[in-house]
Amino acid sequence: MDRRILLIIGGGIAAYKSCELVRLLARQGIAVTCVLTDAGAQFVTPMTLATLSGNRVHTSLWDAGEEAEIGHIQLSRAADLVVVCPATADLLARMAGGLAGDLATTLLLATDTPVLAVPAMNVRMWQHPATQRNLATLRADGVTVMEPDEGPMACGEYGPGRLPEPEQIAAEIMRLLPDPLAGQPDFAPDRPRPLHGRHLLVTAGPTHEAIDPVRFIGNRSSGRQGFAIAAAAAEAGARVTLVSGPVALPTPVGVDRVDVESAAEMQAAVIAALPADAAVMVAAVADWRPADAAAGKLPKSALTDTGIRLQPNPDILADLGHHPQRPSLLVGFAAETGDPRASAAEKRARKGADWIVANDVSGDVMGGTANQIHLVTANGAESWPQLPKDEVARRLVARIAEALDGRAHD
Ligand code: C5P
Repeated sequence: MDRRILLIIGGGIAAYKSCELVRLLARQGIAVTCVLTDAGAQFVTPMTLATLSGNRVHTSLWDAGEEAEIGHIQLSRAADLVVVCPATADLLARMAGGLAGDLATTLLLATDTPVLAVPAMNVRMWQHPATQRNLATLRADGVTVMEPDEGPMACGEYGPGRLPEPEQIAAEIMRLLPDPLAGQPDFAPDRPRPLHGRHLLVTAGPTHEAIDPVRFIGNRSSGRQGFAIAAAAAEAGARVTLVSGPVALPTPVGVDRVDVESAAEMQAAVIAALPADAAVMVAAVADWRPADAAAGKLPKSALTDTGIRLQPNPDILADLGHHPQRPSLLVGFAAETGDPRASAAEKRARKGADWIVANDVSGDVMGGTANQIHLVTANGAESWPQLPKDEVARRLVARIAEALDGRAHD
């Protein structure tokens, strides 16, 4: 079974990496048809892409011969997946606004095929509220957006905005493409995808609450358990949005990661990611934040003489539990020193969660690789053996898939 990709190449220096992407995909036996924007053609040529893909490259909406031959709507629908790479700030803005002034945007508006956008741009352009707003709109429209890498940029600045490596993009594309063996149960792969078609939202890591530009209130959460759950959910076929506090972990393959610092930013990112079929709130959110973060570094005396005035953070889990777009399965975590079961049951009720995953963090659970959890549901507490965090994640994801299936048949 042939799998086909329509690859739209925008105008950024990262366009050269798309050539390598075409080569990698072709090697996997995937048919790639390229569309080059006018700006994209300033960076790579149609000839290069035609040679690498073995297919004609499309550039203009106004090619009468081509229009009669295939029609641009046809072009957008013949693919299993439309990939926009690099997705420049301008192209993302035009996509989010529903513009259709050239071949690329017309195809994107006319398509009924899943779309993956792989942004690449200058760090300030990436962080600009307009770009972030456009990304939230596109995600809400169902577009999968890959998080850019962080590092030195062609323009000399440093930060998030680099195109991920072609191998990583190819892995994400393979995840999103239909399984070539689907519908052939005799050859069914050993990799079941029970969360296919579901959207899972996961929070992970600590939050940092600024005292001043150099100091913060934080905690020892490593993010490992949340990242393992995001990875297991992606492996199970879900579209995964991972809202992560500051951690030193790589983004799991196939996961859309949104980096945040504070509880307030985490809450905004969680709400922006809705709707979701299930949310797993693993983050160790700081309960308090300094009432007024100082704009400049505070002198020592300011910290000792007057203390830091604190104010409570929003409870993201509880807010989601009572939100009009509450995911149909809402899972919270509860870390306590000592037996966490009683307080987990109380938290479950108070926060409006379906399940609470409770664990005793008196050992080295917070930075470590193993975890012993109790799954607290409406039916009571179920204690699991001590397991590696990856295994806890896989089991939990299997339970989530079962629960969502059950709800779908209600
Ligand atoms: O009340 P406690 O902090 O123990 O609750 C833990 C659960 O609530 C976790 O799922 C955590 O992600 C979530 N939480 C939250 N926002 C807060 C505090 C906790 O989402 N401000």
